[in-house]
Amino acid sequence: METLEGEGVLVHRAFPTGALRELDPFLLLDEMGPRDFAPGELHGIPDHPHRGFETVTYLLEGSFEHRDSRGHAGRLGPGDVQWMTAGAGVVHSEMPAKDFAQAGGKLHGFQLWVNLPRRDKMMQPRYQEVPSSMIPVAQNDSVEVRVIAGESLGAKAVIDTRTPIMYLHVTLKQGAKFEQAVPSDHNVFAYVVEGQGAFGGKEAGRGQVVVFGRDGDSVSMAANTAMDVLLIGGVPLNEPVARYGPFVMNAPEEIQQAIEDYRAGRMGAIKN
Ligand code: FE2
Repeated sequence: METLEGEGVLVHRAFPTGALRELDPFLLLDEMGPRDFAPGELHGIPDHPHRGFETVTYLLEGSFEHRDSRGHAGRLGPGDVQWMTAGAGVVHSEMPAKDFAQAGGKLHGFQLWVNLPRRDKMMQPRYQEVPSSMIPVAQNDSVEVRVIAGESLGAKAVIDTRTPIMYLHVTLKQGAKFEQAVPSDHNVFAYVVEGQGAFGGKEAGRGQVVVFGRDGDSVSMAANTAMDVLLIGGVPLNEPVARYGPFVMNAPEEIQQAIEDYRAGRMGAIKN
């Protein structure tokens, strides 16, 4: 589904959609681009709050800057990951880097929302910013895996997660096959970034989401063309989800509280 975020940022939303509301513990996956922007054309998502979950930004092309109410600021470039645990609440902005926005260029990236269990919803916010060079890469003859979270082909992620999460960027040559071990208590899905292939007998291509069944202890894919896939999984929380815009809690009263806390400035503000 195509949708607009912030100041008119066009994103391809893998979910939630009418067909797929959520995939516990995952709440949302957006793909920004891939698209070429003219100088001055690209906008961002100005100051907004989050509470109760994590936002994971993974950039493939372009450059983004973020600032937040806790005085944190940083810049993301190709291959970099920001794993932000909003916990009790932050106000942040996600904007294209000024020089990149002015010059124009290609933007391509992803944002995944990972729900937090009840016990962690009000934790201190936490950032894990990992440059591309620090993301472990595993490979064999025909497959390369960037291990953002979890473990694959013997490589272990450097990012720490609150509940067990797997986040792999798998690049397959044409004709390659890949099998990934996955505990049977995980919900697992694949998002096809590029190319076309078979997933347990079903075909999928660019922009499509594949939701795997819960039986068995591995998932597999075979590339009909060169193929790029995000393979993402986690243990479902099985807790009630109360969701309102940038707040994701367990009960409607907690959403009301989040709105009040934000309006009263208790999540802070970005200082210029
Ligand atoms: Fe955000």
